[in-house]
Amino acid sequence: MKVVITGKGGQLACELEQLAPQGVEVISVGIGELDISNESLVSEFIANNKPDLVINAAAYTAVDKAEEDVGTAYAVNELGTKYLANACKLINARILHVSTDFVFDGASTTLYQTDSVPNPINVYGASKLAGDVALQDILPESSVIVRTAWVYSVNGNNFVKSMLRLMKEKPQLGIIYDQVGSPTWAKGLAQWLWVIADKPEVIGTYHWTDAGIASWYDFAIAIQELGVEKGLLSEAIPVLPIPTSAYPTPAKRPAFSVIDKASAEEVSGLHTTHWRTQLSSMMDELV
Ligand SMILES: NC(=O)c1ccc[n+]([C@@H]2O[C@H](COP(=O)([O-])OP(=O)(O)OC[C@H]3O[C@@H](n4cnc5c(N)ncnc54)[C@H](OP(=O)(O)O)[C@@H]3O)[C@@H](O)[C@H]2O)c1
Repeated sequence: MKVVITGKGGQLACELEQLAPQGVEVISVGIGELDISNESLVSEFIANNKPDLVINAAAYTAVDKAEEDVGTAYAVNELGTKYLANACKLINARILHVSTDFVFDGASTTLYQTDSVPNPINVYGASKLAGDVALQDILPESSVIVRTAWVYSVNGNNFVKSMLRLMKEKPQLGIIYDQVGSPTWAKGLAQWLWVIADKPEVIGTYHWTDAGIASWYDFAIAIQELGVEKGLLSEAIPVLPIPTSAYPTPAKRPAFSVIDKASAEEVSGLHTTHWRTQLSSMMDELV
């Protein structure tokens, strides 16, 4: 199987590359080699390389910046996905595409299902949803959309690495307690994607995060506890719970971002692992 992975250098793409099963020919491309928002480049690249599968891990992920940079967010997240889908359709290739919990408004108090009605509350979420809709329209029979949330890994910038840095620099931190979700180690999502890569019969929309629920405050406390335990932090600082209203950002974020993983577990045969266990494993890679 020949697989093109987009978004090389990103958190998920790095884990996908590392976990590629033996016998799979991987062509991993970053924005320098394949800017997915460039239609002619995408069609030429896919036609020339003729992959069996494209895993689209490329995205415009700067949630706050997207509020100003609307054109670029849509160019990458909507049009980039559409161009990949059109190019794959011409050669009968399949796409595994990664989307986000931010397609939901966060007003629910129960788990979001794969068929819950999306209602994004920021530009990033709306641009990702537009990409999902385009993909489903063009390649309904040979595509998978997997929505994930709160992604971190040893590669790239993320909440875990920011917390570890700030916990060394600051005398105390205030962290939001009234947004809840499920942290996701990119490695676990990459494992799920490789299992699904080998199951061409799987199509449609799925949800994958680590198991369990946390607020950003809970997540920060766990990062600090594990950081001290593993010697990544020399001491604990006071971490105070603050409301979202005390930390205004350009983009609104869903207050409740918990998605139901049941169907993704069922089709893959994999079980989600609690986020704290995954966090500990990721932090072992930082030691
Ligand atoms: N991070 C999260 O918390 C989170 C949450 C929910 C869903 N997701 C989704 O999960 C997927 C993977 O996210 P991630 O955390 O791995 O993101 P990431 O670390 O930001 O990686 C995204 C990659 O896409 C690249 N890229 C940006 N514009 C591109 C373009 N026009 N053409 C080709 N590549 C381009 C980026 O390159 P540059 O770095 O050079 O810009 C980066 O390497 C994305 O679909 C994202 O929407 C992420």
